Amino acid sequence: MDAAYQQCIDPDCNAVFGVDRILVACPACAKAGRQSLLDIRYDWSQAAVPKSLDFFEHRWATKGEYGLGALDFSGVWRFRELLPFFSCVENVVTIGEGRTNLQVADLLARQIGLGKANLCLQYEGLNPSGSFKDNGMTAAFTHARMVGAQRVACASTGNTSASLAMFASLCEMVGIVFIGTGKIAYGKLSQALDYGAHTLQVQGDFDACLRRVRQVVVDRPQLGIYLMNSVNPFRLEGQKAIMYRVLEAMNWQVPDWVVVPGGNLGNCSAFGKAFTELKELGLVDRVPRLAVVQATGANPLYQLYTEQGVRWNDGRYEREKINAYYQQIDSDAVRAHTVASAIEIGRPVNLVKALRALDVMDGVVCEVDDQDILEHKALVGRYGFGCEPASAASVAGAHLLIDKGVIAKSDRVVCILTGHELKDPDATVKYHTGVDMKSAVDNAPRGTPTGQFANPPQPVPDDLNAIINAIGAPSSRFDLPGQEPDPLGHLPVSEY
Ligand code: F0G
Repeated sequence: MDAAYQQCIDPDCNAVFGVDRILVACPACAKAGRQSLLDIRYDWSQAAVPKSLDFFEHRWATKGEYGLGALDFSGVWRFRELLPFFSCVENVVTIGEGRTNLQVADLLARQIGLGKANLCLQYEGLNPSGSFKDNGMTAAFTHARMVGAQRVACASTGNTSASLAMFASLCEMVGIVFIGTGKIAYGKLSQALDYGAHTLQVQGDFDACLRRVRQVVVDRPQLGIYLMNSVNPFRLEGQKAIMYRVLEAMNWQVPDWVVVPGGNLGNCSAFGKAFTELKELGLVDRVPRLAVVQATGANPLYQLYTEQGVRWNDGRYEREKINAYYQQIDSDAVRAHTVASAIEIGRPVNLVKALRALDVMDGVVCEVDDQDILEHKALVGRYGFGCEPASAASVAGAHLLIDKGVIAKSDRVVCILTGHELKDPDATVKYHTGVDMKSAVDNAPRGTPTGQFANPPQPVPDDLNAIINAIGAPSSRFDLPGQEPDPLGHLPVSEY
């Protein structure tokens, strides 16, 4: 058996593929007309896993730009024995991601009804591109380099595109990002442009962008584009490190709760996988409970898990209920809508992995409305270092669960603050002044950029051919080792 491999998460399939393959879903299930996600799995007997988690501490102080020094400096690769899929150190793409803070937030704890020292905020906005996405991108870019990719793409509500654009430019790959017109905060859009990504502003929302980028990547392998959304299982390997750092900052004590906002549901899925493996390896003796918080205007997991009782059920979850739910929102023409634009997602691609994480971590799913999100964002600003709206959903959700008695006052709670406050200054200014800067900018007269490095976004209709034309052909012949035409292209995104 290989030391690292990809495996279908469907227990009735379990098909295995090498890590040299570029896959965004299980090809064996696709042949049988189903869609199923993949995991990265390890034969731990072939990996040099330390006996205890405090082994990793000594690396924290290392400062080195090259080789193992650079890996130690990274808050992801410091834990490399827990994500050993890379073939050699030279392939690892790192930009010093994951050096983030855990703040014990006593003043905020008092506001939401928790005891002293019981609320911790994990500031993932302190990553180089300002969000938790860098944890995942470092791993996915490492895989992209392993397989020789030259062009990478994603659909995004803004943070994935910012992170992709930064990594792509630093490792000299072409970055292509699909964003919904008017759907992303200006801080995030400005990053994609500044880092030089080819930015396609698609007439549609995130769900439309994701459908298109998957069609481009999967149906047109000749375009040679590597997909960086969180259906890419390597992304989630990197995001496991958020949990390792939380444990490290808590002196390897396991908290009672981890509370995280849910959009495409990659992050909560990664947390579930991190704890499953830590438990399996005997590195923790218990697993925290998970609370996934969604916005009321973008709440498919809340609807399916909390309202309709859909459960992982050892991988035999009720596909019919999920299908029926999506058919209903389609026929009612319901579109996701929330002030927390980062989590404005109606069809989360990692829904099934999220069900698995909720099972492993004895989880709950709650929803909070936009006003509640904004009030809690203001509280994080006043009593902490600030965060963007989607991140504040975690604190709003924790508050709700404390009020309901689900989280006890004496529980130790970690809220994951996924993105930096300056990602979406318009939301903050509007909250405090009532002035809608975004609509003012949208209606402002347009000039022509004159800067030498100006990289304006390219508007495109929500049309496959127009998008392919806008992207253009690869500059050199694209020849990926292990790449075969993928039979998945005909399947609709996130439909079961
Ligand atoms: N918080 C922020 C700030 C995000 O940007 C996202 C997702 C989430 C929470 C939700 O995380 O998708 O793993 O459940 N942003 C994606 C993007 C979708 O395109 O930037 P998730």
